[in-house]
Amino acid sequence: MVAQSLIALLFLLCLAQATSPISTALPGCRTACGNLTLPYPFGMEEDCYMPGFKMTCNDTFYDPPKLFMGSGNIEITQVTLDNVFMEGLVARDCYGELSTSSHVWTNIENTPYTLSYARNRFTAIGCDTLALLYRATLVDFTSGCISLCADDDSVANGTCAGSGCCQTTIPMGMKRFDALLGSVQNHTTTKSFSPCSFAFLIDQEQFEFSVPDFIRFRSRSTVPIVLDWAVGNQTCGDANKSGSIICGPNSGCVDSDNGPGYKCRCNQGYHGNPYLAVGCEDINECEDPTSNPCVSICTNTPGSYICSCTDATAGDGKRDGSGCRSATKTFPLVQVVLGCGSGFMFLLVISSLIYWGVKKRRLVQMREKLFEENGGVLLQQQIASREGAARTAKIFTAKQLAKATNNYSQDRVIGKGGNGTVYKGILPDNSVVAIKKSMVFDRSQVEQFINEVVVLSQVMHRNVVKILGCCLETQVPLLVYEYVPNGTLSDRLHGRRDYSSLSWQARLRIAVETAGVLAYLHSATARPIIHRDIKSTNILLDHNYTAKVSDFGASRVVPLGRAHLTTLVQGTLGYLDPEYFHAGVLTEKSDVYSFGVVLAELLTGKPPVSSQRSREEQLLAMHFISSMERGQLFEILERRVATEGDRAQLEEVAQLAERCLRLTGEERPSMKEVAEELERLRRFERHPWAQQSSDEGSGRLLGITGYPSDMDSIDNISTPID
Ligand SMILES: *[C@@H]1O[C@H](CO)[C@@H](O)[C@H](O)[C@H]1NC(C)=O
Ligand SMILES: *[C@@H]1O[C@H](CO)[C@@H](O)[C@H](O)[C@H]1NC(C)=O
Ligand SMILES: *[C@@H]1O[C@H](CO)[C@@H](O)[C@H](O)[C@H]1NC(C)=O
Ligand SMILES: *[C@@H]1O[C@H](CO)[C@@H](O)[C@H](O)[C@H]1NC(C)=O
Ligand SMILES: *[C@@H]1O[C@H](CO)[C@@H](O)[C@H](O)[C@H]1NC(C)=O
Ligand SMILES: *[C@@H]1O[C@H](CO)[C@@H](O)[C@H](O)[C@H]1NC(C)=O
Repeated sequence: MVAQSLIALLFLLCLAQATSPISTALPGCRTACGNLTLPYPFGMEEDCYMPGFKMTCNDTFYDPPKLFMGSGNIEITQVTLDNVFMEGLVARDCYGELSTSSHVWTNIENTPYTLSYARNRFTAIGCDTLALLYRATLVDFTSGCISLCADDDSVANGTCAGSGCCQTTIPMGMKRFDALLGSVQNHTTTKSFSPCSFAFLIDQEQFEFSVPDFIRFRSRSTVPIVLDWAVGNQTCGDANKSGSIICGPNSGCVDSDNGPGYKCRCNQGYHGNPYLAVGCEDINECEDPTSNPCVSICTNTPGSYICSCTDATAGDGKRDGSGCRSATKTFPLVQVVLGCGSGFMFLLVISSLIYWGVKKRRLVQMREKLFEENGGVLLQQQIASREGAARTAKIFTAKQLAKATNNYSQDRVIGKGGNGTVYKGILPDNSVVAIKKSMVFDRSQVEQFINEVVVLSQVMHRNVVKILGCCLETQVPLLVYEYVPNGTLSDRLHGRRDYSSLSWQARLRIAVETAGVLAYLHSATARPIIHRDIKSTNILLDHNYTAKVSDFGASRVVPLGRAHLTTLVQGTLGYLDPEYFHAGVLTEKSDVYSFGVVLAELLTGKPPVSSQRSREEQLLAMHFISSMERGQLFEILERRVATEGDRAQLEEVAQLAERCLRLTGEERPSMKEVAEELERLRRFERHPWAQQSSDEGSGRLLGITGYPSDMDSIDNISTPID
């Protein structure tokens, strides 16, 4: 019974998975700033945005937090794949006030954004108002409008045609504008009903002039401006030719009509984020009963759907088409024959239904039993106790996975470890996955297995191997992960000879990435997670050697309000924190120790345990520490590291490793400190081949608004107006 409701539950979870909103950001990236959500290519952290699309969330100073373009002062109020909305400044000039704000400017040159000529209008409000719009200098480009009125009775609501309010369009491709206000009579004749002039660029869809605006705009300092954006500086055709086009699968390219560059759009029948490598996903038109396009039978197909009618009816089956009507009458004779036929068919169908019913029940019973034995109940409890845990994991059937791995054929084996074999699998949609199958299976492993599913599906980080799902109805549970093609860090460092060795730069990056994951696990999630088995065989490398931390089977979630856990000692020789080993007390610092060993491996290229060293120095940690103490660091560094690395930088990394390897946890730095320190060291990499382009590119981006420091007098503008 329990199992039955469980299957129902998992079925619901799978459904929930299918209908859950598709991800629009890179995994592991922060997407929210207050109640704003940023789809990729926008992002707030390094590696999370496309060059130029950086945004900064200021949540230390503002509550609710505010989002800013690049690292400038332009506040952003909405970010979508279509447009970005910013807060523009209002120029004002009031009777009797010496105003410094009669000139405002906005500059978004060197950014991928352009002021939308379709949506924005340069607008001025007032009854003694001259408003100028120009680009940096009056010579370059000048436009503007005049609004004059004798009294407010002559002003009509809703129109911006020169009486109380005037408007003008802006040219295409505009990235900088200056708004400057002036008056004919210093508002002396209009001060009783319109004491001020205002000028601004505004989204016309969010503005309708009415007489009270004469006063209302006194307390309004910002207005919404719509920005267009585009990627690259080429047309679709040129980008396609040069192979730099970035639109993902199931999407197409559209040239920007407001400056250089292009945009990607999902093809008809698909939705999602076309800028992500996964591209757009098929819309399941049949899924939502309220918008189901068919009256009877709906079949989803890639990019579309097919409506059909039941045998007894005919038509195109479409809700907005002819629907399904009962079939046209056939001749009586045919009808009789058909009648007998269907009676026989009816019997046949009933009997086979009974047969299949029995068979299916037996099959279901067997699956239920396996499901239960494989920890389905435990998984259910875990899922119930941790919100969101099952959000990303999908339940695969045994058949799907057997097919994907060619029946677990030997030539599909990509890795073997103490507790299982990993196969390369190819799913029907041609996506490649890694499938882990435990060798033997007992109670203790059920727990590890559940732990892995639950922890991994909670952790969404770009340097953590992604779990795609599991299969519970087999003899041993199977886990399905994203496929990481370049093997393990251990293989690269001390494994097969046919592997080329890693550059120091790549090693440092891998260290930064791994440290980042651990710092995240320890502090960024709601409850700290201790990995407990950090080692070079658990750090996988993807196609461009980005680190993906794997194997969360041993990891532990620290209960709220507890600093440490007492557990059965578990880990790998050579990486095991000596303090944890002796006292059985697990803290985050145990991961710091294991990470220190990985750092020593990266520096020296030596394995964590070696019988070729003296007894006291069989463990790399010991060997490393004593060599450091003897001042022999440069003797134990791997040759490539010593020649490629900067001496001072190598010394600092080695000292950091030494601090991680201190015998008492308290003396070790926190993972956050380690991550920050490594990141700092990496940034100061002095090699000519070091690349940090994405970072530096965005640092130059402007995105500024302001009031000029020198005051503009009215005289400045009276000339060009007439
Ligand atoms: C976001 O928060 C701001 C201020 O708290 C509010 O004005 C705005 O309506 C919110 N937007 C959405 C989409 O909830
Ligand atoms: C947040 O804004 C305040 C005030 O403008 C500024 O001083 C501070 O440096 C900003 N913080 C960040 C993280 O940008
Ligand atoms: C203009 O609109 C305001 C409110 O928006 C209203 O009070 C006023 O009566 C309107 N004037 C005319 C002439 O319709
Ligand atoms: C408007 O004010 C300025 C400075 O306050 C003054 O120099 C100018 O003469 C005034 N113009 C008129 C028409 O009152
Ligand atoms: C286009 O962008 C590329 C790379 O960002 C840059 O090297 C090139 O100079 C740009 N071309 C133009 C015409 O701006
Ligand atoms: C790029 O060019 C190829 C052939 O030259 C064409 O098949 C393809 O559709 C083009 N892609 C885009 C996005 O324009």
